This record gives sequence, C-alpha cells and structure tokens, in this order.
Amino acid sequence: MSDDAPKKGDSPEKAAKALRAGHLVILPTETVYGLAADASNPDAVVKIFEAKGRPRFNPLIAHVRDLAAAESIAVFDERARALAKAFWPGPLTIVAPIRDSGRVCDLARGGLDSVAIRVPAHEKARAVISAFDGAVVAPSANRSGRPSPTTFADAIEETGASTSAAVDGGPCREGVESTVVSVLGDQVALLRPGTITREQIEVVVGPLAANTAEGHRSPGRLTLHYAPDAPVRINATKAKDGEILLGFGEGIGDPRWSLSTSGNLREAAANLFRLLREADRTKPVGIAISPIPVTGLGEAINDRLNRAAGFVG
Ligand code: TXA
Ligand code: MG
Repeated sequence: MSDDAPKKGDSPEKAAKALRAGHLVILPTETVYGLAADASNPDAVVKIFEAKGRPRFNPLIAHVRDLAAAESIAVFDERARALAKAFWPGPLTIVAPIRDSGRVCDLARGGLDSVAIRVPAHEKARAVISAFDGAVVAPSANRSGRPSPTTFADAIEETGASTSAAVDGGPCREGVESTVVSVLGDQVALLRPGTITREQIEVVVGPLAANTAEGHRSPGRLTLHYAPDAPVRINATKAKDGEILLGFGEGIGDPRWSLSTSGNLREAAANLFRLLREADRTKPVGIAISPIPVTGLGEAINDRLNRAAGFVG
C-alpha cells in the first residue's frame, strides 16, 4: 500500500467527491467490496483495468440508485422490470441493451451494446451513489484472478493503493458476487450464479435458458478465477499432509477452518473468500475443501470453487 492510500474508512461524501474528480474508490457492497469509478468517465474507468490487471474486453457492472436510474441507462422489458422489482435493491445484476452510452462509457461496457446494471442494498454503497448522483462502475476490488475481498482490510490490501478514498462497510453480508442474468435473448439466461438462486429467479420469469452458448457470452467467465496462491482441491473428505481443510458440516476438519460447522450455505458463502485468503496466508501445501451441495446457493459456491481449482465452468 502506498503512503497516501487510505487506511481507515472515509465518508460517502468524500468518496463521491473523489469519484467526481476521476479517482478510484473502495466501495463496500452486500456481496463483495468493489473498486469504483465514474461510469461515464473513460479516463477514470481505465484506471480500474490498470489497478486490477483486468483484460480490457471484460465489461463492468454499473451500480445505480434505483430502477428509474437503471431504465434511463438501459432498455428494460417486462422481464427485466419484474426481476428488478423482485430483487432490487440487492445482489442481482441484469444485462440489458444499452440506451444511453454516454452514462456508461464504451470502455466500461467492453465495447458491447449491452450493459450490466444493479442496485446494491448496502447502506454505504447507496450513500456513495446518492452523493455522487450518477452511475458507478465497480468490479470486485481484487487484482484480476484473485479471490474477491469481503472485508475492508482485504480490499485495501488488494487495490487500496490505487484509490484516493475508501469506505469501510464492515464484513460483506453475502460474501459472493451478485447473480448475473441476461435479458438479451428470448429466454432469460443465468450468466453467473450468485446468492439469488436459479430457483428464485425462475419463480419470477419462468424457466431459464439452458446452460449453453449464452452462458459463455459473459466475457468475465475466465477459467482460473478467484484463486489463492495455494492449489485448491475440491470435494475433499480429508486434508493431506500440509494441506488446510475448509470443512462444511459438523465434525469435519478443524472448526477454526470450517465454512459452516452447521452445514449452512449462507454462512459458507459469507465465509468463503475470507477463509480462502486466511488459509492462503499460512502458505499451506494446498487448500482442500469439503463437498458442498449444489442446490440453491450451493450452485454459486461450487461455481467459485471450481474456478479457484482451475476447472472450466
Ligand atoms: O457483486 C458484484 O457483482 C460485485 C460488486 C462489487 O457489485 N461486482 C462484480 O463485478 O462482481 P465483476 O466485474 O467482478 O463481475 C462482472 C461480471 C463479469 O463476469 C462480466 O463479464 C459480466 O459481469 N458482465 C458485465 N457486463 C456484461 C455484459 N454487457 N454482458 C455480459 N456479461 C457482462
Ligand atoms: Mg470479480
């Protein structure tokens, strides 16, 4: 971290001022910490790609105040509106056709004619967006390919040095990134599983598109992602020599390293990236992870684990 990087939390007003001046900001959300910039300012947005080492073709999510703000930027059909009404504010990102390309610049959209947009629920994220009074693009605040930060300290460690303000919102409640859906096709498609589950979305818009080509249209779905330095071994029942086992369920491994001793998926999601980071810091031979059921929120957890382990999603 450089000397002028923020070490303790700044106010939402200071963050909004930094955004207006074209600087980067650490933004807490209910999912993970974000590295935020003014969505309309390409000189600011380019700094995000530089700080993260992120490929330029990978588009960012625009965070806005409410549905009306979203509809001024993107074209929402009935399905998009129904999803927004059901899940906003909250961890659902909707990919829809762009309406006003000045508000979320080409670079932020990876040159696409669509835009990913969400209304975060975290009070401090909302305060920053309101004070800024515009769209804020924010990828997870990790350097590209690393686990997303879910605490203020982890966000500062990852990309704090590139920012001129950082808002401390405490530990992230959800712990994995938002669910991303696309309304570009005839059927709504799930581009990235998250804490809002497939089942919850299907209640609102009916069956989702089969996991085929559409899923691969999300340019950010790089294979090796969310990865700590130590190799990750999934569906493990026991730790091998020198490995740390992140357990799931009662009596599995050391409770200090358990994702959830009671086998609760919400708790496991909230602990996932923090425990991966803490385990990694002890420089183990490897990190082994107990099997996690693939139902409900387990789909998102398994998605992140498969990528951390280097498997194609
Ligand atoms: O929870 C979250 O979504 C966090 C917090 C900070 O809001 N943000 C986040 O952003 O996870 P990021 O940049 O790490 O992930 C954005 C995902 C990527 O997989 C990207 O490819 C996809 O959204 N995406 C963005 N725009 C898209 C578009 N127009 N079409 C398809 N996928 C898009
Ligand atoms: Mg990310």
